Amino acid sequence: RIVPVLLSGGAGSRLWPLSRETYPKQLLSLLGENTLLQQTALRVDDRSLFDEPMVIANAEHRFAIGEQLRAVGIDRPTIVLEPFGRNTAPAVAIAALLASENDPDAVILAMPVDHWVRDHAAFRAAISMGVTAARYGRFVLFGVRPLSAATGFGYIRMGDELEAASPIRNVASFVEKPDLVTVERLLACDEHVWNSGIFLLPARQFIDELAHRAPDVLAACRKALTGATRDLDFLRLDERAFEACPSISMDYAIMEKTDNAVAVPATFDWSDVGSWSALWSMAEKDQSGNVVIGDAVMEDTSGCYVRGDGQLVAALGVEDLVIATSPDVVLVTSRKRDQDVGKLVERLKANG
Ligand code: GDD
Ligand code: MG
Repeated sequence: RIVPVLLSGGAGSRLWPLSRETYPKQLLSLLGENTLLQQTALRVDDRSLFDEPMVIANAEHRFAIGEQLRAVGIDRPTIVLEPFGRNTAPAVAIAALLASENDPDAVILAMPVDHWVRDHAAFRAAISMGVTAARYGRFVLFGVRPLSAATGFGYIRMGDELEAASPIRNVASFVEKPDLVTVERLLACDEHVWNSGIFLLPARQFIDELAHRAPDVLAACRKALTGATRDLDFLRLDERAFEACPSISMDYAIMEKTDNAVAVPATFDWSDVGSWSALWSMAEKDQSGNVVIGDAVMEDTSGCYVRGDGQLVAALGVEDLVIATSPDVVLVTSRKRDQDVGKLVERLKANG
């Protein structure tokens, strides 16, 4: 069986002020009743294919995570606590080390918790398609057909077929978050797909690759696990050891460098719930193309995402805005500019 690994360390700053470091977006119900974390866990609840999930998260969120998983019937998850985020390469390294302790031939499925996948059966089918390649030692990525010239994704260049007539392709090259000029050049040739951020990995081979490409990450993670302590149901990483770990993503540390990756076409519908405009495009809209959560009075207003958190929002004669209130702050931005909300949050932090 495959060990699902839920990567739950990000803060989701582009969805500020709804998503906060103290309560990030994966712990919120953004689309439907369940939170994004719960939806991700339910995507891998078929126990004939998947083990109970492992969650790698910030220590601050441990109780919310435990509670949310229990609420959807997951009673014995492994929850590993990071004292602070070191990005995804260390988080996946920790998961691979733990999984291979239990089973030297373990295959892990590292999954972001900030994605929306409607069709769980199609998702399982794609994973099943990739698992043989993973058992043969390959790192399996899932490629999504690009819908725009987005600069917030990794781009995979599909190489030759793994076997004759197989939909699985060798990865010819990988570029993480290229700039707009590069994206446009890449998209001019249709061999490129978006990296979904979901990785199916044979634990042992992945650890060998880390030893080769990111030895300092691997060494720090081994130490952080050796010094880890049990705290109730949680496994707390050793803080001093983890502090020494470089902060780097899977994409930069491994995927841009490895020659061992293959890509399975993501035949499931997939969206990154990363920004207000992404939420707007996924949610149900009224006749004027507005998404309204909470109480709002609107006139001559269209294409807006309006979220009033206990406050009445009144809008008149505006278009394509995001208006999101929280008890202490109101965000107003153009839907087009919402990719930069993260930068605004950085500035606010810098100003204290
Ligand atoms: N445990 C842990 N610790 N999880 C983390 C950390 C960390 O320090 N940092 C990020 N994560 C989690 C996030 O919560 C998210 O669920 C997942 O790892 C991916 O991190 P993001 O920060 O959201 O990555 P990204 O969206 O910028 O880029 C990745 O995903 C894209 C698709 O959404 C890359 O893999 C891209 O190549 C890909 O296209
Ligand atoms: Mg993301």
